[in-house]
Amino acid sequence: MEKSNLMEKIVSLCKRRGFVFPSSEIYGGIGGFYDFGPMGIELKNNIKQLWWQNFVLKRDDVVGIESSIIMNRKVWQASGHEKGFVDELVECKKCHLRFRLDEIEAQNPKLKCQIGGEHEMTEPKLFNAMFKTHVGVVEDQESLNYLRPETAQGMFADYKQVLETSRMSLPFGIAQIGKSFRNEINTKDWLFRVREFEIAEIEYFVRAGEDEKYFDQWLADWKDFVLGLGIKKEDIKYFEHPKESLAHYSKRTVDINFHYPFGWKELTGLANRTDFDLSSHEKASGRDMKYFDEESKEKFIPYVIEPTMGVERLMLAVLLSAYSESDGSDGREKGEVVLKFKPKIAPIKVGVFPLVKKDKLLEVARGIAKSLKEAGVMTFCDEAGSIGRRYRRQDEIGTPFCITVDYDTLKDNAVTIRERDSMKQERVKISEIEKYITDKIK
Ligand code: GAP
Repeated sequence: MEKSNLMEKIVSLCKRRGFVFPSSEIYGGIGGFYDFGPMGIELKNNIKQLWWQNFVLKRDDVVGIESSIIMNRKVWQASGHEKGFVDELVECKKCHLRFRLDEIEAQNPKLKCQIGGEHEMTEPKLFNAMFKTHVGVVEDQESLNYLRPETAQGMFADYKQVLETSRMSLPFGIAQIGKSFRNEINTKDWLFRVREFEIAEIEYFVRAGEDEKYFDQWLADWKDFVLGLGIKKEDIKYFEHPKESLAHYSKRTVDINFHYPFGWKELTGLANRTDFDLSSHEKASGRDMKYFDEESKEKFIPYVIEPTMGVERLMLAVLLSAYSESDGSDGREKGEVVLKFKPKIAPIKVGVFPLVKKDKLLEVARGIAKSLKEAGVMTFCDEAGSIGRRYRRQDEIGTPFCITVDYDTLKDNAVTIRERDSMKQERVKISEIEKYITDKIK
């Protein structure tokens, strides 16, 4: 698939079909904030559910939490975010546009100033990307606080509570999916760099000395998860951060980069945060963050391996990977768009079409849709338009199965089920539809 105008096609499709649209668009929107429509929220929820199943439900060594978005400000002082969560910002003295210094330096060819000629940049200034707010009625330095820029600190602050209440022993992890906020200097590339997004991450506590082994295991698990969403092997690669550019807390960081139409960029990451965070919180809070090892009778602060992924970036990579246009050889018109989502993450699993909008066919079609929905299968009964148009609509939103109820149905109690990718059509008894579908969308 030609990548050059793929982003425009995806953005337009997502707006048109109710996946993603700019937040508060009736007022001109707001940069870096997006809303998820009926299709988008299903896709997002399916990805998050799969993540939770994979990394919490199926494992004995990981438990989940949900921590608050606003925490005691001391969390951000101890973690280093208040001082260190900064980007270098430069501003053009003529057009007053602001840029991240690292991005403007990497830009080739140089961006032109909107007023004309080259930009005339100010000296770089440090800019903290945490959104500020005030807690309580008085707006002063005392009440200053932040919207969290990552979920990780919630897991560190709650680490002892979780340890004591869930009776976990090392190695074990705490998982969380939640909103995070970053006042990015420049938002760009649609869902890639936004100001409000969700992070799905795990803090996995291990003994020092075992950190490198678990780092490698998590990297492999992380990659398998990404590939399991339908992202192609050839579109991802590891990026090992050089030692000199590691974050203040990290001993090693490896990103899984994705081949976006705008280049190879970070999709997800893995960091070895050592005992940095728990030690910092122990020091700042005065609370004992040590783990007591029953066997060796030793007390120590564990190391932490942190696999992390942004849900919106994942959605973007999934959408880019699923997008296809028919070459005409599969029975579709050339150029028809099909989103080839893995069935388990497709927003709608089944489209049901009565051949014509007539009493008996309609009644049977609605009955099939109702029983599939009751079985937990997201189903849409599309009653209007030609069958061809109805197929096209479902293809465009990535529905893997379409069921047609025709006149023969009234005689043989069977329907035709078309599978989106193979275009194979099968006649299936109404009584067997639920099993047929649920077996295929696991
Ligand atoms: N706790 C570690 C942490 O927050 P990060 O690499 O800064 O690490 C985690 O962020 C993930 O969040 C990234 O791998 C990326 O997928 C996503 N992410 C980061 N900034 C983002 C932004 N502005 N918009 C969308 N996703 C973002």
